[in-house]
This record gives sequence, C-alpha cells and structure tokens, in this order.
Amino acid sequence: MIVLGVETSCDECAASVVENGTRILSEVVASQIEDHRPFYGVVPEIASRRHIETISRVVEQVLEEAKMKATEVDGLAVTYQPGLIGSLLVGLSFTKGLAFALEKPLVGVDHILAHLYAPHLETDISYPYIGLLVSGGHTVIARVEDFDTMRVLGTTIDDACGEAFDKVAKHYDMGFPGGAAIDRLSQNGSPQAFRFPWPSLHKGHHPFDLSYSGLKTAVVNQLDQFWNRDFEKSKENIAASFQGTAIDILVDRTVKAAGHTGLNRIVVGGGVAANSYLRKQLSGQPDLEVNFPSLRLCTDNAAMVAGLGYHMLRKGQRSELSLNACARVQGLRRLYP
Ligand code: KG4
Ligand code: ZN
Repeated sequence: MIVLGVETSCDECAASVVENGTRILSEVVASQIEDHRPFYGVVPEIASRRHIETISRVVEQVLEEAKMKATEVDGLAVTYQPGLIGSLLVGLSFTKGLAFALEKPLVGVDHILAHLYAPHLETDISYPYIGLLVSGGHTVIARVEDFDTMRVLGTTIDDACGEAFDKVAKHYDMGFPGGAAIDRLSQNGSPQAFRFPWPSLHKGHHPFDLSYSGLKTAVVNQLDQFWNRDFEKSKENIAASFQGTAIDILVDRTVKAAGHTGLNRIVVGGGVAANSYLRKQLSGQPDLEVNFPSLRLCTDNAAMVAGLGYHMLRKGQRSELSLNACARVQGLRRLYP
C-alpha cells in the first residue's frame, strides 16, 4: 500500500510517499526558516501564507521523485493536530481536495504520534513503550500502547524543551532555531560549571511533569551577568550547563516513568531528539532499550505521517472530508494512570 503523507503543522511544508509504512520512496521538506529567522520564532501568519504558496509544488515534486502519478497512490494521510491552526488548515484542505479528486481514502494523523512513529520507519520496535516527544512546540512523556494510542504521563507546564533552547540561543545571538547551535557550543564546555535550578513542581502537578521557564530565566540572567566581562571564557560552560540541566530533567522523568510503568523500552522523537547529550545520556541508562530516529527524521517531516497513516488506513480508519484541524490535542492530560 502506497501512502502520500502531508505535514504542515508548523513551518515545514513537507510531503512524502511511503510504501507499506516503512519504505520511503520520496521525501520533500520545504523549509521556511529564512522567513522566520528575523523574528527569532515562527510567525504563524507568515507560516500559513508560505504553505499556501508552496504546497502544490512540494506535492508535485514528491510524486515526481517517487516516479508516480497521483492516481497510483492508495491513500492519503495528513497532520490535523496539534499545531498552528492556519498552517494545519492549509495542509488539511489541500489533502482533502486531493483525496476527493482522486477518490482515495484519507486519514487525519496526530503530530505527536507521528513523531513517535519516526523511529519505526527505520527499526522494528514493538509496543508498548515509553514515548518521549521533545520538540520546539511539545514536551510529552507518554505510555504508548500502539501506533494510534497513548496515555500521557507528563507534559511541560510552561515552555517546551526546544523552545527553551531557542530562547537561550536567541540571547547568545545565535539565530533561530538555536538548539543545534547550543548543542555544538556545549561540546567545548562543562555541564558542571554552573548550577541551574531544577523545576519545583507543586501540588496538582504530576511527578512526570516538566517545566522550563525557570531554567531559561536563570540561564538568561547568568548570560546577562557575564555579557561584558568573561563572556568569551564562560559562554561554552554556560551553554553546556544549561543543556546538561535541560536534558537531565528529561532523562530523570523518562527513567522514572519507565520504572513506574515497568516498561524498559523508550522511543524518542521530535527536534530535540537530535541533541547529542540527550542521545548519550539516555542511551547510557542501564537496562533500558532506547530508540532514536536518525537525525533527519527527528525534525518535522511527512514520512512519519505517511508511515503512521499506512497503519491507520490498514486498520480501516478513515477521516471524513469534514475533518477539522485542532491547535491543541483534546484531553491530552486527561488520562493519567
Ligand atoms: O520537531 P521540530 O522540527 O518542530 C516542532 O514540532 O517543534 O523541532 C524543532 C526544535 C527547535 O526548538 C530546535 O531548536 C530543536 O528542535 N533542536 C534541537 C537540536 N536540533 C533541533 N534542540 C537541542 N539540540 C539539538 N541538537
Ligand atoms: Zn514536530
């Protein structure tokens, strides 16, 4: 079964053709980074306007690269939640139109589940497991029962982990997005050089919840303090100490969630899954089987959407042409164990 996947939940306009859920026949990602860079963040209106200009070219190109006609596709999968509403609506409307014209089945795919599916494109991983999704917009720890079912154990109560990397990088004047730049700068610093606070969670928060706004503020204050003196000497140590704390928090919660549920298999997805310190720290945990996607499948792409869509379509799941987009996942935090 050949599935065309479309992903426009944030600033990447992506399409991919995937056979039987794992064989990527073609993949196109049109990045908008240059449009958003001057603003140090994704500007929602610019993102949706770029998507509407780009999407037909991206889909044409992905079919051309797969050496296929649209009529040869067996089904279509598209991200419908969560994300920027204008961006989601462009991909969703376009894909609905295509499914209607081709008279092919359509399925709406959840972006968080799609990120967690990414390593399945490359490795045979069985369910259930602890899923850790860490990106610019999401930080979620979940018990993943199957490709289409997860139970959320913890989420960030404020900023997403990647967002904290981006905000710290902005303070370094490293441009946007800055996660990879902080990762590179940290290679020459010591994670122990500075002590930054761990989140203090209060009553009402779950033990697997996370928080990043306090850490980000502490790091930014430290950078301000060093800005005129000793900056060159300290910048790598501050970056490494920030990265160390941000990632140690993730590892702590993930290991605790594994212990709590008795699951020893971990799957990581999202842009921050590319972080070298996270890959090292989590892979070094005793008695845990940890699966990361390859670097190109960590960030937003449509192969993960087509791959997950294949399993949903095969199970008989179909979306109506009335399917709407959702900026937030309904009831994300409802299902604590
Ligand atoms: O999954 P993604 O492409 O988009 C969202 O769905 O948000 O993730 C992008 C995020 C950005 O915040 C970026 O700074 C971060 O992933 N990122 C990293 C690294 N590479 C990308 N963060 C830390 N270390 C990295 N190596
Ligand atoms: Zn994403």
